[in-house]
Amino acid sequence: MAAGPDSDLEQGDLQRGDLEILGRIRTASNATFLARIGEVEVVYKPISGEKPLWDFPDGDLAHREVAARLVSEALGWDVVPETWLRDGPLGAGMVQRWQDVDPEQEAVDLVPVDAVPDAGWRLVFDGHDDHDRPVALIHEDTPVLRRMAVFDVVTNNADRKGGHVLAMPGGHRYGVDHGLTFHVEPKLRTVLWGWLGDPLDDDELAGLARLQAALSDGLADELTGYLTDEEIGMLVERCKRLAAAARFPSPQGQMPAVPWPLF
Ligand SMILES: Nc1ncnc2c1ncn2[C@@H]1O[C@H](COP(=O)(O)OP(=O)(O)OP(=O)(O)O)[C@@H](O)[C@H]1O
Ligand SMILES: [Mg+2]
Repeated sequence: MAAGPDSDLEQGDLQRGDLEILGRIRTASNATFLARIGEVEVVYKPISGEKPLWDFPDGDLAHREVAARLVSEALGWDVVPETWLRDGPLGAGMVQRWQDVDPEQEAVDLVPVDAVPDAGWRLVFDGHDDHDRPVALIHEDTPVLRRMAVFDVVTNNADRKGGHVLAMPGGHRYGVDHGLTFHVEPKLRTVLWGWLGDPLDDDELAGLARLQAALSDGLADELTGYLTDEEIGMLVERCKRLAAAARFPSPQGQMPAVPWPLF
């Protein structure tokens, strides 16, 4: 279910309450901070800290992250943690609820080729690591991760790294870092290729139908605050194509099909 405003802090407080930076997330390539609003821990990515990219316009990655959350809500799957735009000490940016992962779980993994589990996992590819050892990229074969893969197809996610799948206690998986989404050209770059060509199941088709209905019923208008008309048109088109094909797609175009680094 989509997470609504929390009982400890209402949405208005999260929007206007003092945002205090606790520290910088060092592994991140953009200026990405752990912060808090009252007792609620959040990620804060100021637009001023967005690194320019050759293939996405400047200064709107934060907007794409909010649009991704709106799509996640319309699918009804809670793929993306609550995300919104607001002001902060380094200017306007995206804010997202921090999620405490289960350090014992991995949804995506790189393992020696002879250690690929027989069941419950899907192989993406195998190859050799920096030390020439045979390794395999694998991900779990679960309904919750399949939903994320469907979400990535409709949002045209160009950056589904292993580190952008948060393994939560209890088995839920959250996706994060959705700044590179909604491009009008095919740019799906993901580590979640394990179901390539497989039919979508009824749950996945029902989610897609919910998203399509929501788009016709106000979501497309709401998205104009975050995306261009052309990008919204292509989102509608990708939904239509995926619903018609009713299968996980194959890589398209000339771009690498997996992000780099993989994690
Ligand atoms: N909402 C969240 N809850 C918990 N952890 C998060 C959340 N958002 C991000 N993280 C963690 O912080 C890391 C960096 O965040 P993110 O990937 O969004 O930043 P980035 O600047 O785009 O990084 P990069 O360009 O290196 O991918 C993530 O890989 C993840 O481990
Ligand atoms: Mg990242």
